[in-house]
Amino acid sequence: MNVMCGIVGVTGNENAVEMLMNGLRRLEYRGYDSAGIYVNDQNGKDYLVKEKGRVADLAKAIGEDVHGSTGIAHTRWATHGQPSVANAHPQVSADGRFYLVHNGVIENYIELRDKYLQDVTFKSETDTEVVVQLIDYFVKHDNLTTLEAFRKVLYLVGDSSYGFLLMDREEPDTLFVAKNKSPLLVGVGNGFNVVCSDAIAMLNYTHDFIEMQDGEIMILTPEKVDIEDEEGHHITRLPFHVSMDASEADKGTYPHYMLKEIDDQPTVMRKLAQTYFNDDGQVTIDDELLADLQSADRLYIVAAGTSYHAGLVGERLFERLAAVPTEAHVSSEFAYNSPILSKHPFFIFLSQSGETADSREVLTEVNAKGYHSLTITNVQNSTLSREATYTMLLNAGPEIAVASTKAYTAQIAVEAIIAKALGEATQQVAAADFDLRPQLGLVANGIQALVDQKERFEAVAKDNFVDQRDAFYIGRGIDYAVSLEASLKLKEITYIHSEGVAAGELKHGPIALIESGTPVIGIITQERTASLTRSNLAETAARGSHIMTIVTKSLAKAHDDIILEDVDEMLTPLLTIIPAQLISYYTSLLKGLDVDKPRNLAKSVTVQ
Ligand code: G6P
Repeated sequence: MNVMCGIVGVTGNENAVEMLMNGLRRLEYRGYDSAGIYVNDQNGKDYLVKEKGRVADLAKAIGEDVHGSTGIAHTRWATHGQPSVANAHPQVSADGRFYLVHNGVIENYIELRDKYLQDVTFKSETDTEVVVQLIDYFVKHDNLTTLEAFRKVLYLVGDSSYGFLLMDREEPDTLFVAKNKSPLLVGVGNGFNVVCSDAIAMLNYTHDFIEMQDGEIMILTPEKVDIEDEEGHHITRLPFHVSMDASEADKGTYPHYMLKEIDDQPTVMRKLAQTYFNDDGQVTIDDELLADLQSADRLYIVAAGTSYHAGLVGERLFERLAAVPTEAHVSSEFAYNSPILSKHPFFIFLSQSGETADSREVLTEVNAKGYHSLTITNVQNSTLSREATYTMLLNAGPEIAVASTKAYTAQIAVEAIIAKALGEATQQVAAADFDLRPQLGLVANGIQALVDQKERFEAVAKDNFVDQRDAFYIGRGIDYAVSLEASLKLKEITYIHSEGVAAGELKHGPIALIESGTPVIGIITQERTASLTRSNLAETAARGSHIMTIVTKSLAKAHDDIILEDVDEMLTPLLTIIPAQLISYYTSLLKGLDVDKPRNLAKSVTVQ
């Protein structure tokens, strides 16, 4: 069974249960269909509790007497098989000696099971149980120490993906930790140590973290962290400091993270204007990055999900402002069906989390070929950031809701910043004329004006979306790129079937789906194509659709619905997406759905 999850471990703290549970709550964005915890009190007592459902369900299942100072915990997102108590982690060896939590996929687990474990009766369908049983097998059968058995199993699973936390009842204060292609960080405390999939999980307890590289093993006890490379050689590595405050990952008085994150967007725009412009108003990006970009004959933007949609906007920004051919690609496609590359390609990875496995697959290949790359991410020290040549941060603050909002707008703003810097460096008139810093101020004000009209979008959701089966967003050019993201927002959290359609393509197929009352929302911000999109909307209205428009002020007409402040035509995606985010949010809420944790999805997708 393949899993993609959040994992956390603590050694040497009497409050381990509370720390692990708080950690799981913070990691729930990674998966939330079952959860489990194992703790040991160092006096011969230990506890294993697993539950189907949310972390809150696990919390209810944990009785008063569950306590300990060392433990591991897990929140799961299943990809094969049903979520169940048996399949939840920790997985346990047959005699209850070894406990293992895992984030990733063991590709050869069936072969390993058939080769070594024919006599073992399995309690779950998971690949993880095979790993924990194998460790037990090598300890007993080959007389290996736990560490030796762990190392041997890591060798046997080859290039599978994993973040592993292993506990042995006979060394109850020790955590054995390893990773390959899955994120893990070790946190250093005073008299205790922790490990987690994301620093957010443990920021209440420490701000000092040690990076972990693929193939390494870390052995954590309350007093120390031993790091060994693949050959077993000791390594010294100093911790880095994460300055983010734990409260930044709280939703405060907001009912949902998504609403808070939508509201954060004006601040994020202003922050980016401060970060990437100097006091003279000049755009500033790393000199070496700029030189690398200048020597590229084509840019390849690689990303998944919402980030890919931000890449589609980026494609247009780079071509218009910097006159450099640019292609945006879905990373899972690029990884196995890559196009013929230009002579001097440069790669831009867009990833909110910096952990998406599909994108990392491409980056690994890009590095192997010796090409240079930039990761644009929200997470400092994330895998894609560490492995790319350059990183630019979104500075958007933690994004917790599964449906991405502020990361999308921040990614587009950063792309605009780079496109302007590159265009100026190559003397493009379009870049010189593009007054980005004041424009970002106008964008921030324009977003604020929209988020201040929440009741209005709630009414639109109630009157036009809640009872619908299908919905369409349409547009041309950059408005089409936003239509795709607007439609993704709707389907992710409301489960309404929705499509983003190039307005001109409607008549070539999708118009067959229009029924009486089907909402069709036209995004109209480009002077050249405005009247064409209006005609396409009218064509659907003639077939019974309920049409709505999202239009910039200068293009607005008497019966338009949602009118946006005017900003530069290239920056309109930063405004047009906001009504779509809010309509999706309220529709989800009115349908009684779990806005922040929609069914079947996870925020950080660390399996391919
Ligand atoms: C998941 C999330 C999406 C996100 C995508 C890419 O599918 O649910 O919201 O857009 O992954 O994630 P990334 O972190 O690479 O931007």
